[in-house]
Amino acid sequence: MAMPGERALGSGWDAELYERAAAFVWRHGSDLIELLAPQPGERVLDLGCGTGHLTAELAERGARVVGLDSDPAMIERARRSYPALEFVHGDAVSFRFAEPFDAVFSNAVLHWVTRAADAAACIATALRPGGRFVAELGGKGNVQAIVSALTAALAEAGYPLAPERFPWYFPSIGEYAALLEAHGLEPAYAALFDRPTRLEGGEAGLRTWLALFAGRLFEAVPDDVQVEVVRLLEERLRPQFFRDGAWFADYRRLRIVAVKRAQP
Ligand code: BEZ
Repeated sequence: MAMPGERALGSGWDAELYERAAAFVWRHGSDLIELLAPQPGERVLDLGCGTGHLTAELAERGARVVGLDSDPAMIERARRSYPALEFVHGDAVSFRFAEPFDAVFSNAVLHWVTRAADAAACIATALRPGGRFVAELGGKGNVQAIVSALTAALAEAGYPLAPERFPWYFPSIGEYAALLEAHGLEPAYAALFDRPTRLEGGEAGLRTWLALFAGRLFEAVPDDVQVEVVRLLEERLRPQFFRDGAWFADYRRLRIVAVKRAQP
């Protein structure tokens, strides 16, 4: 796939580009595994496993792991990379398993799930009583500078972003903790913190990030306008977000651990 700025931004997942350009996603997820502290033999669901790298790390730690993702290309890629592991195609808002899990783990996925209450219900159902949910997602204020600059550039180009096209859910601690609690998941730990994140690809890093993650914001925008919007965005964000040959995204992460109550 060519980079945006050179051609139109796509709207679906590009598993091959993700594999090449999004290693920072699973690199940062490794220490979320420390927070989970999987025990040998524990049955763990990797919710939104993508191309399966963290699923494999969980398996290396001795967990009996299942990776679940709603994107068939991601599942296909994960199965190719890790043929010994179990990967299932399914949606975070409607999945069901016959056998309960000791833990549900999820890295950098749940901000894509705007039906957050449905996801919380599925997670709670999937866990055994006393089982834990350990997740990281974009939190309140995530990629605020990028989104503001992009919203302004799209509006100036004559393609204002309708609020219903905003594809992400970036909750505060209070909002997300209340949601989990309402589904029988008792928060035990939560943190919201800035993590400026170095993007892969040098000069093309921001364009590549947009191609991977923000394609939906460009739907219905003609190709030549997309190119101009990306150029404008790079010009405006460069002073603050390009340094030492790399782009940085203003990530803000919400980390949370919750335990399924024994009694609903
Ligand atoms: C994130 O991981 O925080 C994120 C990724 C893509 C788009 C928005 C946020």
